[in-house]
Amino acid sequence: MRNILRYASLAAAAQLAAAVSLDVTSKDSIKNATSLIAHGMLSYYTGNVTDTASTVGVLPGPYYWWESGAMWGSMLDYYHYTGDTSYNAVVTQALLSQVGPDYDYMVPAHQKDEGNDDQAFWGFATMSAAEKNYPQPTVGNYSWVQLTENLWNTQVRRWDTSSCDGGLKWQIFTFNNGYDYKNSVSNGAFFQLSARLARFTGNQTYMDWAIKSYDWLFDVGLISSDYHVYDGADDTQNCSTPNKIIWTYNGAIMLYGSAVLYNYTNGSSLWQERTQGFLNATANFFSPYDNATNIMYEPACEPVNTCDNDQYSFKAYLSRFMWASTLMAPFTGNAITTLLTDSSKAAAQSCSGPSDGVTCGEHWYWGEYDGYYGVGQQMSALETIQGLLVSDSVPPLHSGQVSLMTTPTTSTTVAPAPVPTMTATATPTKRGLGEKNEPSSLIFTVIASMSIMMVRLGLGELVFGAQI
Ligand SMILES: *[C@@H]1O[C@H](CO)[C@@H](O)[C@H](O)[C@H]1NC(C)=O
Ligand SMILES: *[C@@H]1O[C@H](CO)[C@@H](O)[C@H](O)[C@H]1NC(C)=O
Ligand SMILES: *[C@@H]1O[C@H](CO)[C@@H](O)[C@H](O)[C@H]1NC(C)=O
Ligand SMILES: *[C@@H]1O[C@H](CO)[C@@H](O)[C@H](O)[C@H]1NC(C)=O
Ligand SMILES: *[C@@H]1O[C@H](CO)[C@@H](O)[C@H](O)[C@H]1NC(C)=O
Ligand SMILES: *[C@@H]1O[C@H](CO)[C@@H](O)[C@H](O)[C@H]1NC(C)=O
Ligand SMILES: *[C@@H]1O[C@H](CO)[C@@H](O)[C@H](O)[C@H]1NC(C)=O
Ligand SMILES: *[C@@H]1O[C@H](CO)[C@@H](O)[C@H](O)[C@H]1NC(C)=O
Ligand SMILES: *[C@@H]1O[C@H](CO)[C@@H](O)[C@H](O)[C@H]1NC(C)=O
Repeated sequence: MRNILRYASLAAAAQLAAAVSLDVTSKDSIKNATSLIAHGMLSYYTGNVTDTASTVGVLPGPYYWWESGAMWGSMLDYYHYTGDTSYNAVVTQALLSQVGPDYDYMVPAHQKDEGNDDQAFWGFATMSAAEKNYPQPTVGNYSWVQLTENLWNTQVRRWDTSSCDGGLKWQIFTFNNGYDYKNSVSNGAFFQLSARLARFTGNQTYMDWAIKSYDWLFDVGLISSDYHVYDGADDTQNCSTPNKIIWTYNGAIMLYGSAVLYNYTNGSSLWQERTQGFLNATANFFSPYDNATNIMYEPACEPVNTCDNDQYSFKAYLSRFMWASTLMAPFTGNAITTLLTDSSKAAAQSCSGPSDGVTCGEHWYWGEYDGYYGVGQQMSALETIQGLLVSDSVPPLHSGQVSLMTTPTTSTTVAPAPVPTMTATATPTKRGLGEKNEPSSLIFTVIASMSIMMVRLGLGELVFGAQI
């Protein structure tokens, strides 16, 4: 509602505003464009100004904790692709601020909005830091890959065979709504992190879990035979009825995990087939209309204007992981470059919003700024456009190619992970209604939060008719 009102009052101005100019054939132009978009994204972040324990590392409400981890991941890509180090100090401080007492991204202050998927988005960032040989942490005694391994070890202990023959639950804590839901993003992220850790470390344990989590997603029906990735399933029903809503980021996460394993297995036909399959299935996420060939969109909510703050950012991960796949599975390069080059041009055109003339919108196929602004919209444009530089970037490294920190002299053993059924002292709450994350005055925000919860809990089609 906030967005629509803003659109109504500012639509006229949008027509007149400048736009992010982008010449996709010029590296300078791409860098200039991404620098403007990254600056716009980070203007939502106050932790670099206020510098207090509760604001460092995290975006203010209504953004959830996970999206900050996602944003820092996009800034690692930004630095890697453009070479611009301006934000590195801010990014490093942010990533290290959320390690938690056990250096595994279990953060007591965020118990009410930390599920397996939320934690994993911080893991994508630390894994990416490891693979990019980003300067190693200077607090604590863990390297980026060890932080990721610590995180992974908390998740593997949550693999739950009490229903559905396995899988991770969405939520970690019983007091959060979604504890009875096993979703693709939690399990897909675990699959992808397992694949990347396998490739980075060469440790077979990670490969075994990558295979096991992939097989589980397929066996339980969350990956279809034509590589569509459905949202999740209710484990009180033994996952017998998958919620078939399809989000861009789920397919993207599986695509990249498969591409990494294609690479790690030196081009096995099994992982080639799967990589190609997920790539084929991304056709769902492009070309919504005849006038919008190759333009990316979020089919489940964008055409009907029901996306919430989480969902506005999903296209960022589709772009991130598609571009990344071109390095791990070069046979995907031509198809991905075609799709994302056309999407980049459209995204740049949407970045013409007030008041700075370069604020990005959501509907890239509108051909102009649409009035829907926010962190997710900035991040989506950023990941799409900066990836145009991917072919000049150093591919993800592995442990033999980077110098890790010296092994801690204290102990490499992580403290025991929290038991999923622990009795928490926190007041039971619905995720999304926690007072910390949301200005309570924004009634619409609360409604939107309830909506995503219903979507993610399998009620989406009842609410929106958005199921595809
Ligand atoms: C990029 O930005 C710099 C500094 O503002 C400017 O000098 C240069 O002309 C721009 N290059 C392109 C290709 O837009
Ligand atoms: C914080 O980040 C914003 C966005 O990049 C920037 O405009 C501002 O100058 C930064 N503030 C400090 C104190 O670094
Ligand atoms: C890291 O290890 C050193 C000794 O190797 C120790 O002095 C220091 O306290 C450790 N720091 C943390 C945060 O554990
Ligand atoms: C639950 O589903 C799994 C496969 O997803 C199946 O192996 C198992 O037998 C089912 N259990 C019950 C009690 O139906
Ligand atoms: C492989 O990784 C697992 C999980 O982190 C760990 O427990 C195990 O010690 C590792 N094995 C080796 C040989 O490093
Ligand atoms: C892939 O190739 C490398 C280098 O030749 C080799 O060390 C490794 O064992 C191969 N991996 C597989 C799964 O074949
Ligand atoms: C694995 O990735 C590297 C780095 O991009 C690339 O050179 C190599 O060709 C890839 N391997 C396969 C089998 O495609
Ligand atoms: C991907 O699409 C191509 C072209 O339609 C088709 O030939 C191929 O069989 C598909 N591959 C997979 C794995 O679905
Ligand atoms: C393309 O068509 C859609 C649906 O009719 C419309 O919403 C959109 O504004 C059009 N885009 C352009 C650039 O005309």
